[in-house]
Amino acid sequence: MKRKNLLIVILLAAFAFGLGLLANSIIQRRAESKVLSYQANNLSPFESVNEKWEEFYPREYQSWKMTSDTTFKSKYHSSNIVDLLEERPEMVILWAGYAFSKDYGTPRGHYYAIEDVYHSLRTGAPSDTSKGPQPGSCWTCKSPDVPRMMNQIGAEKFYSSKWADLGSDVVNSIGCADCHDSKTMNLTITRPALVEALQRKGKDIRQATQQKCAL
Ligand code: HEC
Repeated sequence: MKRKNLLIVILLAAFAFGLGLLANSIIQRRAESKVLSYQANNLSPFESVNEKWEEFYPREYQSWKMTSDTTFKSKYHSSNIVDLLEERPEMVILWAGYAFSKDYGTPRGHYYAIEDVYHSLRTGAPSDTSKGPQPGSCWTCKSPDVPRMMNQIGAEKFYSSKWADLGSDVVNSIGCADCHDSKTMNLTITRPALVEALQRKGKDIRQATQQKCAL
């Protein structure tokens, strides 16, 4: 056989081998995705402890946990906290009288939502559960404990409580139960304000498909 022909045969064989690997990987992933979609769990409704979901959905849990990475940096800030008031002191004046004039850092990943709101000067340092500058609504976007608590005490009471009053209950950072119904794993809207605001525009976001934006 000529050298050139031999080379072609080798290349074709390598190509066929590669295709085989690819097909195999596709079939495997497909089987996996079926398992994941229908993976049963014994999580309770409104399960807010993210770690409990790991057993059933290890890949999604790992990708959620990657929000703890703070090493990313670009010219548009970073995945770590950057003190914006130090960088742009004019914002202190623009926000005078508003809590953001006390402290404003760029946000870190979901993993840190609770920790960062503890340490923000905006929430102050309440001395007991009935005092402090902020109402419970400051927790609203921070934790899967929020839908759990709203289900327990009602959204009205949640918003009107003091921030410190709910502090012992809101402890898990933004996670699975903020977006998923633990029984069906379907996506779900967990904050009534979004549903209500769109209802006022005559739209029902709960009927929106995943591809369709209800806005
Ligand atoms: C900010 C919202 C959000 C959070 C937080 C979140 N997910 Fe998801 N998740 C999604 C979206 C959006 C999809 C894609 C749904 C789709 O395309 O059908 C998804 C898909 C999934 C799927 C695949 C579902 C299927 O039917 O194939 C699983 C399993 C899953 N997430 C588990 C988790 C787990 C476990 C956590 C917590 C560690 C988590 N998710 C946190 C929004 C979220």
